[in-house]
Amino acid sequence: MNGKAYNIVDHTYDVVVVGAGGAGLRATLGAAEAGLSTACITKVFPTRSHTVAAQGGIAASLGNMGQDDWRWHMFDTVKGADWLGDQDSIEYLCRNAPEAVYELEHYGVPFSRTEDGQIYQRPFGGMTTDYGEGPPAQRTCAAADRTGHAMLHTLYGQSLRHSAEFFVEYFAIDLIMDQDGACRGVVAMCLEDGSIHRFRAKKTVLATGGYGRSYFSATSAHTCTGDGNAMVLRAGLPLQDMEFVQFHPTGIYGAGVLITEGSRGEGGYLTNSEGERFMERYAPSVKDLASRDVVSRSMTMEIRDGRGVGKDNDHIFLHLDHLDPKILAERLPGITESAKIFAGVDLRRQPIPVIPTVHYNMGGIPTNFHGEVVTLKNGDPDHVVPGLMAIGEAACVSVHGANRLGSNSLIDLVVFGRAAGLRCAETVEAGAAQPDLPADADELALSRLDRVRHSSGGSPTSKLRLDMQRVMQNNCAVFRDGPVLEEGVQKIKEIWKQSGDIGISDRSLIWNSDLIEALEYENLISQAAVTVNSADNRKESRGAHAREDFEERDDANWMKHTLAWADDDAQTVNIDYRPVHEYTMTNEIGYIEPKARVY
Ligand code: FUM
Repeated sequence: MNGKAYNIVDHTYDVVVVGAGGAGLRATLGAAEAGLSTACITKVFPTRSHTVAAQGGIAASLGNMGQDDWRWHMFDTVKGADWLGDQDSIEYLCRNAPEAVYELEHYGVPFSRTEDGQIYQRPFGGMTTDYGEGPPAQRTCAAADRTGHAMLHTLYGQSLRHSAEFFVEYFAIDLIMDQDGACRGVVAMCLEDGSIHRFRAKKTVLATGGYGRSYFSATSAHTCTGDGNAMVLRAGLPLQDMEFVQFHPTGIYGAGVLITEGSRGEGGYLTNSEGERFMERYAPSVKDLASRDVVSRSMTMEIRDGRGVGKDNDHIFLHLDHLDPKILAERLPGITESAKIFAGVDLRRQPIPVIPTVHYNMGGIPTNFHGEVVTLKNGDPDHVVPGLMAIGEAACVSVHGANRLGSNSLIDLVVFGRAAGLRCAETVEAGAAQPDLPADADELALSRLDRVRHSSGGSPTSKLRLDMQRVMQNNCAVFRDGPVLEEGVQKIKEIWKQSGDIGISDRSLIWNSDLIEALEYENLISQAAVTVNSADNRKESRGAHAREDFEERDDANWMKHTLAWADDDAQTVNIDYRPVHEYTMTNEIGYIEPKARVY
């Protein structure tokens, strides 16, 4: 590919952040505040990033509404993760959570308030007190049911205040890697005029979110195509624990739109076709506030046993109609509106039809708790990839292990976004000279761009994407089974092969959504392949990965992280492993030993 075909613009920064959701903005703010020249590249306007859709809240043991302790939060997170989380990272998350939330408060996030003016906190699934022995914890700090929206606007304003530079509506195509395996920056395209931008940086921070759109029904925005994850795969690096895909129990039936878990935190409950509050059978202690994997499986079992609601008995009812309308108006105004628009129900009087819906990817780019990308190299499972960092849903740090607790995502974004900013400040000298980029710096990105832009095969992106989404929805779902997964592996491989036959019709460079959708689809298909292969490979049940042919958790053989590499040309996935960190960060808390996970 000859780069002369494109108008290329070069930039040099100390730090380049890709993505402007909660994690990307927090890292951008931190690096800029530390005096580093910082650019943030984002394919959508920052306040339209998917964090804007986060509803219920952000977990931190502030103890505003009852006694709490970061160690209890840590215990719940380790248990929620079904012991696949790295306990040093989980300690980092939970002990730093209160400070990160107070920081947000001081930046200006308009949290809901208690009568005496403190930050309001609600119960969320799997959050308990006294190391799981006490009643549910009120730990999730909320701005009504629009917490992500409030955070995003505040963080964007703060980043501008510290003179971070934003490249808005720029699509990142590929990383620039040198021959020593270090990341030297990223190549992106300006969507408005098609110019190509080479960003050279000492640290490239991927904050590109999850890849929910590899499934047919997801609460994720259409932009959630895991672009950073796919760039990492193309750079020859692995992704971690991709088999762990979270289904949120309460997506609106048919539309997939999120109804926050905060609705159950405020007293909502689920019923089957017999009007029974069935969660009392599956989780006698915390009932509707069990962790998401447990609630999603229980709902699926009710439907399979013929107790689903609706004319096809294929969904479940969520009741909020018994709650005080004042609570609904004050604490849950957003979902009141969503239920009306997307399900046609007045939730003050009628139940909402809901179904488990893909919501979050526990897997992603492996990192340590500083946000530095790690890989397996020469027998070292924690080898740091120079120059490359990852945070937020794109990363697998791994604090969520096999299953994330609700409201631990927003706190992950700000704690590790902040950690990445701090690490950049520690390791990067502001303005120091950078070596020239390798001669072929843009080759990977431009050859890819050119190939897709001029593709003229017989397969439209929309068909390949739909085929992929259907296979993922059917063959890699809440419950999994050997033959179904094997079929999924084969079907995804076929679709992956057909990607060579993709055809687009718009060859222009100005707002070419045909081209961008094809590039996004390419990003999704390699992640779909890695996900279904990793799920087929893991012969146990743990957290969100529930196999009907291997029903038990198998710590002896499977308490280890999956690492998966993808080869787009050969359409193959290779798998290896990293050990789970069975140690904590400090001796203020010891390793939490595995035990049976009951709620
Ligand atoms: O249910 C919710 O409000 C989602 C929260 C989360 O995924 O953390």
